[in-house]
Amino acid sequence: MSEHLHFDPATMDPRAVYRLLVGSVVPRPIGWASTASGAGVANLAPFSFFTVVCVAPPMISLTIMRKADGSEKHTLKNARATGDFCFNVVTLPVWKQMVDSANGFPEDDSEFSETGLTPIPGLRVRAPRVKEAPIHFECRLERVIELGPKRQALMIGEVVHIDVDPGVMTDGYMTCASSIRSAASTASSMRRSVTSSSARSTTAVRASAVLTPRLQEGPHDHALLLPHIVRCRRQ
Ligand SMILES: Cc1cc2nc3c(=O)[nH]c(=O)nc-3n(C[C@H](O)[C@H](O)[C@H](O)COP(=O)(O)O)c2cc1C
Repeated sequence: MSEHLHFDPATMDPRAVYRLLVGSVVPRPIGWASTASGAGVANLAPFSFFTVVCVAPPMISLTIMRKADGSEKHTLKNARATGDFCFNVVTLPVWKQMVDSANGFPEDDSEFSETGLTPIPGLRVRAPRVKEAPIHFECRLERVIELGPKRQALMIGEVVHIDVDPGVMTDGYMTCASSIRSAASTASSMRRSVTSSSARSTTAVRASAVLTPRLQEGPHDHALLLPHIVRCRRQ
């Protein structure tokens, strides 16, 4: 085996550190956080730094970086203002809308109307849900932990309600599998392991791509993100 390369994050360009992190922590599913502003504007933004952090009670976390000017993103501002948010799993049919929803719209513009997605009321929270998403986690804001000198936010929500489209469930099991590819080599090995390990898996491994670094927020490249979307096959 070749000798490892050594990196000291403290001395590196943050963009290079970002590439090492996101290229190593895969697969990384993408979901939408939907929130309502204090004034009632429905907000939507995609996040991939998201995971399950507790099961009893159920909790998920999102990592929300600050904008280039150091201000908080609307998702975090809204969740702090209303005390809740919804997390919606993104699937292949809506990947273009997902990418478009990441472009920084003004606070009084709703990404729902900008992208043509449909807001539906939350059942237990003020935050709207995304009708086109098959899974909604309705969350009460549990806490926000600020990390590092730039006070990046780890936002934790307690899941108080879960809505699932029955089309992505079979016999009580989720049949919506995520596959996120970051390199050609992992893509082919994933294809082999998925095929052999789970007949129920609906994962479709597609061509690989490296997620564009997004430390400098700007227009997002659809083609680069396509392979990073959760694919759900309806039963
Ligand atoms: C696929 C994808 C994943 C993203 N993941 C994150 C993330 O995990 N954390 C983050 O702060 N921004 C992430 N972004 C960028 C936000 O979606 C973007 O900054 C958005 O404009 C924030 O919207 P808001 O101000 O309405 O909250 C991601 C963007 C894309 C396209």
